[in-house]
Order: sequence, then C-alpha cells, then structure tokens
Amino acid sequence: MNFLVINIKELIQVEQKSHLKVCGKQMSKLPSIKDAFLYVESGRIMGFGSMKDFNLKRERYYSMSSKIIDANSKSILPTWCDSHSHIVYAGSREKEFVDKIKGFSYEEIAKRGGGILNSVKQLQKTSEEDLYEQSMLRLNEVIKLGTGAIEIKSGYGLNTESELKMLRVIRKMKENTCAKIKATFLGAHAFPIEFKDDKEGYIDLLINEMLPIIAAEDLADFIDVFCDDGFYTTEQTERILMAGIKHGLRPKIHANELAKSGGIQVGVKYGALSVDHIEYTSDDEIKCLLDSDTMPTILPGAAFFLNMLLSPARKMIDAGLPVALASDYNPGSSPSGNMNLIVSMACINYKMLPEEAINAATINSAYAMGVSDKLGSIALGKDANFIITKPISSYEYIPYSFGNNVIESVYLKGQVQ
Ligand code: NIG
Ligand code: FE
Repeated sequence: MNFLVINIKELIQVEQKSHLKVCGKQMSKLPSIKDAFLYVESGRIMGFGSMKDFNLKRERYYSMSSKIIDANSKSILPTWCDSHSHIVYAGSREKEFVDKIKGFSYEEIAKRGGGILNSVKQLQKTSEEDLYEQSMLRLNEVIKLGTGAIEIKSGYGLNTESELKMLRVIRKMKENTCAKIKATFLGAHAFPIEFKDDKEGYIDLLINEMLPIIAAEDLADFIDVFCDDGFYTTEQTERILMAGIKHGLRPKIHANELAKSGGIQVGVKYGALSVDHIEYTSDDEIKCLLDSDTMPTILPGAAFFLNMLLSPARKMIDAGLPVALASDYNPGSSPSGNMNLIVSMACINYKMLPEEAINAATINSAYAMGVSDKLGSIALGKDANFIITKPISSYEYIPYSFGNNVIESVYLKGQVQ
C-alpha cells in the first residue's frame, strides 16, 4: 500500500545522503525537518520533506496514495535497532535477582550453577514450539516499544541439539515478523557442565560439529564469543572466530564486561562488526577501536541491572569513536528490551546527549547488526520502519520522560503493528 503522513511536527533523523554510521562530534547532530511529510510506497520510504515542499507537489502525492494519515502535530523517528539481544530463552531467573539483592555477585551466582547454566538447563528441556511461542511474545512486546530490528543470539543451548533448536526458532521468528532479525551463533557463551574439565573438547565440538551444520543450513549471520574473565580466553576466542569466519560468519564479541579481557583487541583483529559491553575500556582499547570498522556497543541495561561499572561512552565519543546502544535483553543480566529506557539511561548515566543517544540507538545500532543501508534513519529507499510519537514537545522529551511510553504507533515495512 502507498500512503502519506502529513503535518508531522518533526521528522527526526532524516538523511539526505545516507551514512552507514556516525562518529565522534557528528553524533551530536540529529538532522530533522519541522512541519514535514513522509511518503511510503510498497513498504519503503519514497518521499519526505517539509509541508511547503509537499504543497508544491500535493496533487501528485495525493494521486499516488491510497491513504492519508494526518499526524496532527505528532513527531516521527525511525524505529530503534537493537543490535544485541538474547530474547530466545526459556523461563526466567527472578530467584537469582533476589540472590543479587542479598549480596551475591554475578560471578558467584554463575559459579554456583546459576547464571547462564541455569537458563541452559531450562532451555534444553523446552520444546522448539514452546520456545518459539515464548520468544515471539517478547519480540512482539519490544516491537510495540518501538524496536524495528533486532539481533538475536543463541547460547543457552550449549550442545548441538539445543543450539540448533535456538537458531531454528530464530529462523522461524524471521519468517513470521515484519521486524528485521539477524541471528548470531553464540555457542561460546559459557562452558557446559559436562565439559567443565575439558574446555578444549567443547570448543572442538563447537567448531567441528555445530558450525558445519549451522553453515550448511544457513542458520546464522554472525558468530559471538563471551571473551571475558572466567569464560573464554583470548586464545580460545581466536580459534572460534577463525572457524566462524571460515564458514562466512562475521564476529560480534562480548568483551570486557568483567575485566580488561583483551576481547576488544581480538574483536578488532578479526574484523568484528561490533564489540559489546566494553565496561572495562581504557586508552589502549580506544586507540585500537579508532583504527577499525568495529562498532563499540554499550549495553546500559546490563550495567544498570547488575550495578556494574559503566562503559566510558562519553570518552569514546569525545575521542572520535562511534557508539551504538543495545538492550542485551536476556533473563540474567538485562530482563528488559525497552530501547526507550536504554536511550534514557544513555543520557542519564553515560552523559550522552539526546542526539547522541538517538543516533546510537538507530543508525549506529543498525550498523552494528549490518543493516544500516536499509534501516536506522529516514532516508529515500530505506524500509518504512518508523515510530509515530504521542504529542511531545521535542525529541529531547523522549529520553527525558524516562519509563513513560511516548509511542503512539509503530510501522514496520509500512505496516502498522
Ligand atoms: O550479555 N555476558 C554474557 N551474557 C549475557 C548474560 C547472560 C545471562 O546471564 O544469562 C550478557 O549480559
Ligand atoms: Fe549479551
């Protein structure tokens, strides 16, 4: 269907010339058009500009459109891109949440068989159908909250059967939603209990058994490793990344969440699309990232939920780096996929400007999942994935009004959700 939206108070994050990402100072610029229109044809953005421009071509646009929406002074921005999530999981872990309140650390809980391995146990005994239903509910919830693209990781299976189960669920989700989904193989999320004393044995299984099937069935776009203290070493990470790359999977790394693990350097060395978490980032890591195409991605939900160190986002942007934002939606360290809240946290806790946070959660997070040529901004030819806000006074109101719902409706590929 072709349609028009007219009388938009502010059309936010417009690009006359598309960029794949924005870096440093450029992140504080958020181009917008006040009193604007938007024209959608077959699910793509095929026209936009000021109402003045629209009035000059009014007859032409009216004749091409089968529907006209009067935005009535509401604003429009592109949907959020959530470039790091684990929304395919079974059950929940609120008991550990209570343990954390009582003073146990994330590492302590993991050592007692909780943490990731708790979710592994629950997922292994959940059927593919049930897992799909649980995960689809979460996906539809985050779409209502304005997410139009999401990367989803495996990593709660930790054996061939269950890792494949997760990736097949992600594939089925791709087939049944208008949201853009990218799948990441994270078999190296933890070591399964059976391989507690044979870590290399598990890595062999991952490389020699799981990866060839995943590649043959085209089940993943990316490969990820939890490269951190107590999880995968940089040497183990290198081995897994090399194998993934051989099978055509680009790396995305969990790095430096718990310590200065060397994960950022390994990610950059292997051309990772993004390095994520990166709470422990100092000058060496910033320098390394400056010479790369890798997107530093911060996950404010996890740092908030676990009360951890905050990634130095301000310092990275001031040094000229791009920064992306993602939810890390998962049952252990960030049981929320609300990107509006993530954008607020970026401003409040990380001192990012609203413009920087919105860039980080749209165009830069689209880059971090390899879709910024089609999503992440209002630009000609891009997918018509956009949010119509409630009546708000300015885009700064979005992060300011933290925890409130400023969204009136969400369109994906031109279809209202
Ligand atoms: O991104 N850091 C590693 N993995 C997840 C946590 C997963 C879990 O606790 O279940 C994360 O925070
Ligand atoms: Fe994660």
